[in-house]
Amino acid sequence: MSRTVYVNGDYLPEEDAKISVFDRGFLMADAVYEVTSVIDGKMLDFAGHATRLMRSLGEIDMKAPCSIDELEAIHREMIKRNDLTEGLIYLQVTRGIADRDFVYPDVEPSMVLFTQAKSVVNSLIAKHGMKVISIPDIRWGRRDIKTVQLLAPSMGKMAAKAAGADDAWLVEDGFVTEGTSNNAYIVKQDGTIVTRDLSHDILSGITREAVLRFAAEAQIKVEERPFTIEEAKQAKEAFVTSATTFVGPVVEIDGVMIGDGKVGDTARRLREIYISESLKTAI
Ligand code: PDD
Repeated sequence: MSRTVYVNGDYLPEEDAKISVFDRGFLMADAVYEVTSVIDGKMLDFAGHATRLMRSLGEIDMKAPCSIDELEAIHREMIKRNDLTEGLIYLQVTRGIADRDFVYPDVEPSMVLFTQAKSVVNSLIAKHGMKVISIPDIRWGRRDIKTVQLLAPSMGKMAAKAAGADDAWLVEDGFVTEGTSNNAYIVKQDGTIVTRDLSHDILSGITREAVLRFAAEAQIKVEERPFTIEEAKQAKEAFVTSATTFVGPVVEIDGVMIGDGKVGDTARRLREIYISESLKTAI
């Protein structure tokens, strides 16, 4: 069955959902995006994603296509029209359509949304954990802005696949920044969680914010600081967070087993807490 895709005010069958070749998202990756997870037909952390979208837009002087309330209404309509019970909603805003020029044109933004139905709660990664490799972080210097410039992360994923792993952790100046499409964490032998502090070097994950809050509520100590791959290899556990994986346990880094090579207790517990607590506030 064809999905219903949102394009600039219209809800269209996916075959008819089209964007101009002059759209700056296509020509220059002049676009930002958000991915929101859906469980039981409800969105998790919608407010966080909407707020971050507005921040990304502001950082690159791009006009907002609509208000947060209108955005919420469009997301809800997409869930309804696509009969989405579990999966993801992808949203992209581009600067708009203009003749190719490096100078920002004064045009109206384009906005596109589509849904992806998939199991997000019962994933293979949640059950068995994932293997990661480390690779140099070759991305640009404003990773706090969620732009659609995703070739470097795609190349990272492909390198991971070629190495028989599931994902890559990106390393800059000797320290892990984040995963290709997630935030990265280790759990020290004393149970303390370590994850990189926020800056222009990483995306401020919406799942990260919630998981760190739940960790604090569960009296788990958190250190926000950079860590190395060597420190990660000595850790008790490792995991990632994102809207698509929630809390995804990492069981191997560069061929070295983390802990006993099985899904760790902290990651399992935080995943359960994240899903149950986020569902309470899901809309
Ligand atoms: N990626 N870091 C990067 C580089 C990301 O691309 C993402 C999300 C995250 C986690 O952010 P959040 O918890 O808000 O999803 C961190 C999305 C899911 C994607 O590109 O599909």
